[in-house]
Amino acid sequence: MISLGSSDVVSDVLVIGSGIAGLSFALKIANSAQVVLITKKEKAESNTNYAQSGIAAVFSPSDSYEKHMKDTLDCGDGLSKKPVAERVVRDGPARIQELVELGVSFSKDAAGMLDLGIEGGHSRRRVVHVKDLTGKEVESALLDAVANTPSIKLLENHVAINLVVEENCCRGCYAFDTKKSGVRNFVSKITVLATGGIGSLYLHTTNPEIATGDGIAMAYRAGTTVMNMEFTQFHPTYLYQPRGESFLISEALRGEGAILRDRAGRQFMADYHPMKELAARDIVARAIDQELKRSGDNYVYLDISQKDPQYVRSRFPGIYEKCLSFGIDITKNPIPVVPAAHYCCGGVRTTLDGQTDIENLLAIGETACTGLHGANRLASNSLLEALVCAHLAAGRCQSLLEKEPPLRPFAPWESGDATDIDENVVITQNRDEIRRLMWNYVGIVRSNKRLTRAKKRIALLQDEINQYYWDFIITTGLIELRNMALVAQLIIDSAMLRKESRGIHYSLDYPQKSLIAQDTLLKKHNV
Ligand code: FAD
Ligand code: SIN
Repeated sequence: MISLGSSDVVSDVLVIGSGIAGLSFALKIANSAQVVLITKKEKAESNTNYAQSGIAAVFSPSDSYEKHMKDTLDCGDGLSKKPVAERVVRDGPARIQELVELGVSFSKDAAGMLDLGIEGGHSRRRVVHVKDLTGKEVESALLDAVANTPSIKLLENHVAINLVVEENCCRGCYAFDTKKSGVRNFVSKITVLATGGIGSLYLHTTNPEIATGDGIAMAYRAGTTVMNMEFTQFHPTYLYQPRGESFLISEALRGEGAILRDRAGRQFMADYHPMKELAARDIVARAIDQELKRSGDNYVYLDISQKDPQYVRSRFPGIYEKCLSFGIDITKNPIPVVPAAHYCCGGVRTTLDGQTDIENLLAIGETACTGLHGANRLASNSLLEALVCAHLAAGRCQSLLEKEPPLRPFAPWESGDATDIDENVVITQNRDEIRRLMWNYVGIVRSNKRLTRAKKRIALLQDEINQYYWDFIITTGLIELRNMALVAQLIIDSAMLRKESRGIHYSLDYPQKSLIAQDTLLKKHNV
């Protein structure tokens, strides 16, 4: 019988991740449970914090739940689940109203009504936003509310390493305290994964560095099913910067009339789709990819300089200022853009209320795969899904807690004979290699040959990385690297299993869509 250790952290509910999913879930359950929320870095660092265009929901009289559902299902290209889409779409307005009550001040039009934006794949204006800084405002309102909730204890700089699962029941996790350089046991009745996406597996990404797929890797290692991992969504318009920091140029610009041109000034989207700049994201990303391959250029242009400068500055203050800091005045000049990895449509397979294959383990937000996005996510449906599922998962969590699940302490982390890592360069070198191989071989356009190369390479890297994992004392870099390699393998394996082109998975060897739409499911053997 193992008893609690002095540095063990005990809670009713352990939430891993402080983006929109983790924070809104924690707030919902905090009335009936003691919550510990751990997060890898500073509390605001998350994909959520960088979201620009907004949250899709039906508010306009010219819109309807049916229309939003149809757009979601059309975009999902045969793999989105209708009942899931229906619930998410119908619950959207109520969840957004709760954000208003927390103090998020969504942009209004001249008549004082919500100003609704539009993006690719939407047949109506329905994106509520706070100018082009939606994520920052939402994250900050949620963090303020958490800070004012005594039953939530938020710990920054704690990186979850592994879940502890016994007899298919989750007992909590091991997490690395990066300030004290030690591993602590987090013992909980219910554990919730809200660790976000996987963009950092790719050389070019809109995501911050935290997006290394940790939750997906932990859940897979622990024995859950992961679903549809081949569907990495590439955002068409990321600011082209040959060196250094870059950032997303929101699709909302195209919603408000921005035009894509090649470097000679030719508008090319009409060659690819009747919706031109407002075609779904995969079509625009592939069109840009094809234009770049044809011309040999490094970027295309996105141009909003034909619009009134005052309007551009007030509607897109974040993008205007950021581009200006790179020497680009978007009211006068076109913006050089390239596609970049943006969103993981797959993830840990869950029900709408977050249940995974493991008892007392829930997953929500970008880490989870509920079946909403199918083969391609409709723009601005991610924040929406996170809000709705966090709410539903809190309901499930409450019923699980009513069954009084026991707290089961577990053995402390064993470092064995591990020594300090002698050269950190092995971590950075391997991280770079994964990012490059994913970009070059598992990118926007795939082929059997490229995927086979990627699979061989990732297997070699995994052997090396697993060796470091046992030989060296744990660091954040090592935890992330091990997860990145595993998630890369899951993406490659899923892509190899899909012998068709559907949604955002495009294969040169299988350009047609199969008659039957099937999810790709992966589960570890011998758990
Ligand atoms: P995140 O917000 O990414 O939060 C994950 C959290 O988990 C972070 O706090 C992270 O530090 C923590 N974490 C990760 N691993 C660990 C670990 N091992 N241990 C402890 N903590 C960990 N979607 C829309 O719907 N509308 C938009 O306008 C939009 N714009 C976007 C713009 C950008 C630039 C990006 C990158 C994404 C955008 N998206 C948008 C997608 C959307 O922002 C994300 O899908 C959503 O925010 C995910 O929320 P989340 O809570 O699941 O994850
Ligand atoms: C954007 O602002 O273009 C991103 C929107 C999204 O990912 O949903």
